[in-house]
Amino acid sequence: NKGNYEHYMQKEIHEQPESLTTTMRGRLIRGGSCKAKTVLLGGLKDHLKTIRRSRRIVFIGCGTSYNAALAARPILEELSGIPVTMEIASDLLDRQGPIYREDTAVFVSQSGETADTLRALEYALENGALCVGITNTVGSAIARNTHCGVHINAGAEIGVASTKAYTSQIVVMAMLALAIGSDAISSQIRREAIIDGLFELPSKVREALKLDREMKDLAKLLMAEQSLLVFGRGYNYATALEGALKVKEVALMHSEGILAGEMKHGPLALVDENLPIFVIATHDVCFSKQQSVIQQLNARKGRLIVMCSRGDASSVNVGGSCRVIEVPQVEDCLQPVINIVPLQLLAYHLTVQRGYNVDQPRNLAKSVTTE
Ligand code: UD1
Ligand code: BG6
Repeated sequence: NKGNYEHYMQKEIHEQPESLTTTMRGRLIRGGSCKAKTVLLGGLKDHLKTIRRSRRIVFIGCGTSYNAALAARPILEELSGIPVTMEIASDLLDRQGPIYREDTAVFVSQSGETADTLRALEYALENGALCVGITNTVGSAIARNTHCGVHINAGAEIGVASTKAYTSQIVVMAMLALAIGSDAISSQIRREAIIDGLFELPSKVREALKLDREMKDLAKLLMAEQSLLVFGRGYNYATALEGALKVKEVALMHSEGILAGEMKHGPLALVDENLPIFVIATHDVCFSKQQSVIQQLNARKGRLIVMCSRGDASSVNVGGSCRVIEVPQVEDCLQPVINIVPLQLLAYHLTVQRGYNVDQPRNLAKSVTTE
């Protein structure tokens, strides 16, 4: 049921304040006078000790689910102190990459049925790793075959392009980082700030959704383009990859997510006055580096659209003529949940204006059950 919306993707983008609320329901505990703020993930509580003792955490997934894990990687590294590596499921299988008994392998999948991810799970089980699932589908193959896990509880997702599952996956993995790190006194203030950030996340996403009109106008401006680059780094490298994936898979426009730190090692050659470039430059520890990226792109007359934190417009657009999109600010590690929203809206409006099928892009399937 699409309700008042024209497409499932549109509905699923707009229901993110509610899906995120459901994802967090019963799992965040705001301290009373003596109790500290904590998270409770029922499916993991008996396994946290084992996870904390593991030598490495390996995230495994495909498509948007992989991108969600990439978005959560920095906070998991920070709060757990354990090395976190990333694997695209098919690539792990192609390489028969090493997986050890001392590893915690985390399988991220909306459907819980993706063939590559499922094969990678079988492989990790054979190699003796602790296997943790992060799935949206109760009773799915991945939920059943992992040792333990967390259901993201985002509700059914119908649009082939994943939107609300992405933001709920990030939130669950941020909660996973909080749960693993919950015994460290040194990070308690940081953890409490993140928990406060999680509580305010649905209302901040609701504010970001107000950019709908602005993103529709931007889509009109970009609809006839051949290509769109998306630059990000740090917490928002994943946002660049995921934003580009949305544009590519539904709007059928070539788009590439680029790690801004790699700009001078190739992508800079593409910059001219025609190619549109979307730069994510919200306020975090990488901000000044992103400001200098914007300056360098401006110096080459790049056609920039810059996403920044509210109030930062003048500090990102020094002397340039960029189009600026301001988004609400949250705790840095949760900012990817906000920043993807305008890009989801852009991909959606580009698709409608270009006249393509929003909910079932050509050649793609919601759940890829063959390798
Ligand atoms: C569970 C109940 C929820 C109830 C809550 C009350 C289910 C599915 N969930 O939620 O309805 O409101 O207790 O406390 O009955 N698991 C995996 N792999 C996965 C995902 C999950 O093995 O990929 C396992 C978990 O380890 C856990 C079980 O499935 O044993 C349920 O997980 P989850 O729904 O996340 O647990 P709760 O949030 O505690
Ligand atoms: C397909 C979907 O390619 O599988 C994507 O079209 C999705 O939207 C990918 O991200 C992975 O799916 P899942 O269910 O394992 O998260």
